[in-house]
Amino acid sequence: MTRLRTRAVAALSGTALLATGMLTSSVQAEPTTDHWTRGEALEISPGPSNTAPAIPPDFPVMTDDVWVWDTWPLTNLDGEVVKVGGYNVIFSLTAPRDIPFPERHWYAEIGYFYSHNGSDWTYGGDLHPGEPTLSDREWAGSAYLIDGEVYSYFTASGDPNDGELKDPLQRIAVATGTLEIEHGRNGGVVLDGFDDARIILEADGEHYQTLEQSEGAPIIYAFRDPWLITDPADGRTYMLFEGNTGGDAQEHVCDPWEIGDVPPGHVVPDEARYYTGNVGIASMGTSLDDWNLEPPILAANCTNQQLERPHMVIENGDYYLFTISHEFTFAPDLQGPDGLYGFVGDSLRGDYDPLNGSGLVIGNPDSAPLQAYSWYVTPQWLAESFIDTVPGADHYGGTLAPTLRLNVQGDSTRILNEMGYGVIR
Ligand code: FRU
Repeated sequence: MTRLRTRAVAALSGTALLATGMLTSSVQAEPTTDHWTRGEALEISPGPSNTAPAIPPDFPVMTDDVWVWDTWPLTNLDGEVVKVGGYNVIFSLTAPRDIPFPERHWYAEIGYFYSHNGSDWTYGGDLHPGEPTLSDREWAGSAYLIDGEVYSYFTASGDPNDGELKDPLQRIAVATGTLEIEHGRNGGVVLDGFDDARIILEADGEHYQTLEQSEGAPIIYAFRDPWLITDPADGRTYMLFEGNTGGDAQEHVCDPWEIGDVPPGHVVPDEARYYTGNVGIASMGTSLDDWNLEPPILAANCTNQQLERPHMVIENGDYYLFTISHEFTFAPDLQGPDGLYGFVGDSLRGDYDPLNGSGLVIGNPDSAPLQAYSWYVTPQWLAESFIDTVPGADHYGGTLAPTLRLNVQGDSTRILNEMGYGVIR
């Protein structure tokens, strides 16, 4: 319903402009943005098919060297997980384990792990050598093997010149390096280089909120978490990322198509207008460093402030868009668990339907609402994530959680089974 309405609005404004002679038929109307509405989010209903099994308090820890959270595998630009010389490689946000886990974000650096079987991981160390130069810290993240080189896209977080530990500036950066296999008993994967980091994309203030515009928002703004995909429909490469709707935080007005079909009597709280999360998109220009911002593909204005780590699985012409959300980032009077949320569309910029009617694909159980976070779905429908807080455990997680296998049929999904810890294939 809502999608059709959004389309209708775009179509109408095009027609209106044509009628006034301001738009010739050869001019392309600006792409439309689909919405995850309040009405759809009100449908969120955790149950056996979308609730993760409880993680036992004696879970294994993959390394004592660092905390591990948001994690992504080395892939190609089609989203496929790649193996090099018999090894899988994953990249994770990491921080020294003597930093309190809740403080980890302010010390994050990308580390990497490698494995022969895609589940037993050896820590390879920091990806970008030395201290970050463009930023105070590195946030998520994706990495691609392209013509034998590794491209690491990440969020350059914080302004290194302002001396503040927690300033929330976010810009998108890339660095490139090599991947070599060392043979022998102590062999493994060595990632080298990555000392050429450069900023390639910043919020424009029009489609995507800048740090300055975010002033007054109750939850940190976003311009982060780049993820690349080549669209089989046009052969072009795009970057998805997490953003907020451009403009000053307090100025957004909740439109009817953002509210959607809500039950009679549903009142949109005034504070809902501060919640403006979106899945942003940029199209590649002349090189992998050159990106053009386009209007978001999905916005959750008045529904959710953060659509984190957006990524996709494209299967038989269906575009499955996944994102993660915390419970606390839902707008007032909406409720959803910390979880993985998904949408399916008929094209990259298509009409997106929330999976299972509401978007909820995997949620933490009520008994352990913070047990895991930051799910990432591979084309094999495996969802990996990290462990945060498990009731009864005497320490935080900071390690990979049991992977969950999903069954996906059209616009409905269910959790099929739990696999080992940190399995990616
Ligand atoms: C999700 C997230 C990402 C961000 C990172 C920072 O867990 O908020 O969006 O890049 O954590 O630690």
